[in-house]
Amino acid sequence: MSLVSLITGGTRGIGFAIAERLLARGHDVAVTGTTSSGAARAEHALAGTCGDPGRVLGLVCDVRDPAAVDLAVETVVARFGGLDVLVNNAGVGGGAPVSELPYDEWRRIIDTNLSGVFYGCRAALPHLKARGRGWIVNLSSLASTNAFAGGAAYCASKAGLNAFTEALMQEVRHDDIRVSCILPGSVATGFSGREPETGANWKLSPDDVARVVEDLLDHPGRSLPSRVEIRPSRPPG
Ligand SMILES: NC(=O)c1ccc[n+]([C@@H]2O[C@H](COP(=O)([O-])OP(=O)(O)OC[C@H]3O[C@@H](n4cnc5c(N)ncnc54)[C@H](OP(=O)(O)O)[C@@H]3O)[C@@H](O)[C@H]2O)c1
Repeated sequence: MSLVSLITGGTRGIGFAIAERLLARGHDVAVTGTTSSGAARAEHALAGTCGDPGRVLGLVCDVRDPAAVDLAVETVVARFGGLDVLVNNAGVGGGAPVSELPYDEWRRIIDTNLSGVFYGCRAALPHLKARGRGWIVNLSSLASTNAFAGGAAYCASKAGLNAFTEALMQEVRHDDIRVSCILPGSVATGFSGREPETGANWKLSPDDVARVVEDLLDHPGRSLPSRVEIRPSRPPG
């Protein structure tokens, strides 16, 4: 039986690279994004890499909306017959100095990066428990431990995510549900309006992070890497 994976924010960047790797392992894979064009483009591209459109599903789902997240999880389970792996990857950057940070911007970042992960886990857990085992991988950031000026909302969202991940890990590890977070440094993607090519000669590639997800899935069952940091080995001086 092939494993079923759901990757939030898998239409591009790190999430897309994770989808490519999990498809190559034989998983059935669903990716989500905020637009129907992005979801359709990703579905088409991923189907091309694995040669089997039946194993790929692109869904529109804004992770800030708990009802939409519930629906996405139910759609995946109905299509593929269950769920084994949830990768909470969808995330946004941005921000401003606290005295100038608009309330809407604070909510956009916290609702996406932290509440969205809670909604995903809450919706997925009954299905992982029904399988008798599963994996949840949350995409945090080194910004969760290395806070920077102007990043209060983003850094707080990711620091909160680390604590959320650890609490959930404690709750469900005896159910054979393995919960981990990955804390990447700079990754060459279009995150937060950047040019994906900028710094690509020294930044991590999206696939470097995707490899960590694979390592987590392959790790022997008696041990649980609950928090993994990964950073560029040669950042500019
Ligand atoms: N790039 C870095 O340097 C870096 C470093 C550390 C951690 N991270 C973390 O890694 C994760 C992925 O980042 P990335 O660099 O791959 O970013 P990216 O290229 O900007 O991709 C972000 C993905 O998240 C989706 N997304 C954004 N808001 C969403 C929402 N409200 N609901 C559902 N999907 C949403 C986007 O969908 P649309 O296409 O529809 O917008 C897109 O698929 C994020 O959690 C980020 O914080 C990134």
